[in-house]
Amino acid sequence: MEIILALALIFILLFVVTAFVSLFLKVPYVPTKKRVIQEIIKQSDLKKGQMFFDLGCGDGRMLIEAEKSKQVNPIGYEIAPLVYLSAIIRKLLSRSKAKIKFKNFFKEDLGKADVIFCYLMPAELAKLAKKIKKECKKGTRVISNTFHIQGLKPIKTIPKNEKTKIPTLYFYKI
Ligand SMILES: C[S@@+](CC[C@H](N)C(=O)[O-])C[C@H]1O[C@@H](n2cnc3c(N)ncnc32)[C@H](O)[C@@H]1O
Repeated sequence: MEIILALALIFILLFVVTAFVSLFLKVPYVPTKKRVIQEIIKQSDLKKGQMFFDLGCGDGRMLIEAEKSKQVNPIGYEIAPLVYLSAIIRKLLSRSKAKIKFKNFFKEDLGKADVIFCYLMPAELAKLAKKIKKECKKGTRVISNTFHIQGLKPIKTIPKNEKTKIPTLYFYKI
């Protein structure tokens, strides 16, 4: 009984911290849908062994799908505790080798990335563009779900499809 109570308290604490972090960062946890992930993978020309980053990786679904279908090396950053925990559980259940870090990606070096995926809000994306231009090597590709990254010029845009519910997808090359 005491263990159940302790677990419930830990869960509530993590929930409150997660809500606070999401509110503070103004980037809520909204997972990319499976069919959207499939479309992104189809459009991305991912290659085996590439370093594939998801900045704000949520429950790690994008990383794990890319790893399974294209054998990339996935690295994700997630700052909301409960969401991070769900990524670790997903990684373990799917026996993925993804590295999932409980860190603020703005404080991490992005220099090793070959491909960066993000599903963030426009204000964070504009800030991220400056970081990407400073740290990423030439040829790094960046994919953004739904929102254009102000400060980068897309090489390809897949327009929103009302029928399939695939949102606008933006592709960039540094
Ligand atoms: C809209 S969700 C997208 C989740 C995942 N990328 C997906 O597409 O399914 C954005 C995630 O980014 C996380 N996040 C926002 N800012 C972050 C930061 N600076 N460092 C790490 N994670 C961040 C949020 O906690 C949230 O889980």
